[in-house]
Amino acid sequence: MDERDIKKLVEAALSAREKAYVPYSHFQVGAALLAKNGNVYKGCNVENASYGAAICAERTAFVKAVSEGEREFAAIAVAGGRENESIQGYAYPCGICRQFMLEFCDRDFTIIVARSTEDYKCHSLEEIIPMGFSADNL
Ligand code: THU
Repeated sequence: MDERDIKKLVEAALSAREKAYVPYSHFQVGAALLAKNGNVYKGCNVENASYGAAICAERTAFVKAVSEGEREFAAIAVAGGRENESIQGYAYPCGICRQFMLEFCDRDFTIIVARSTEDYKCHSLEEIIPMGFSADNL
């Protein structure tokens, strides 16, 4: 991915973050998932009074995409931080989201964790979930 495409995806993640529904954690996360055909699906975290019923931003984006028939993915950008504050650190996907990515993505799928369009890091799926369990193991 070139720098321009990365910045566009990060921008989409930052705008998705504005929609986060976080009355409990006050931690807003946005994600933008790029399909191999160029389509982008945005997602945010959506919490619930029954805390365990919350869904992360990354899985929101995947569920939106897969439910629209998308199956092939190139990259996801993720941006997270406390409500009403500038983004402090890089918000890495949680374990469940990493497992979700493993279901639909190749090991070279790119994860971009961003603080801004100027400050981000790129990783492969293999890097963030090595020795993962997927359909190949069944
Ligand atoms: N969260 C995400 O949206 N993505 C992650 O990968 C980690 C955590 C959300 C879940 C919850 O709404 C809030 O961040 C605090 O854990």
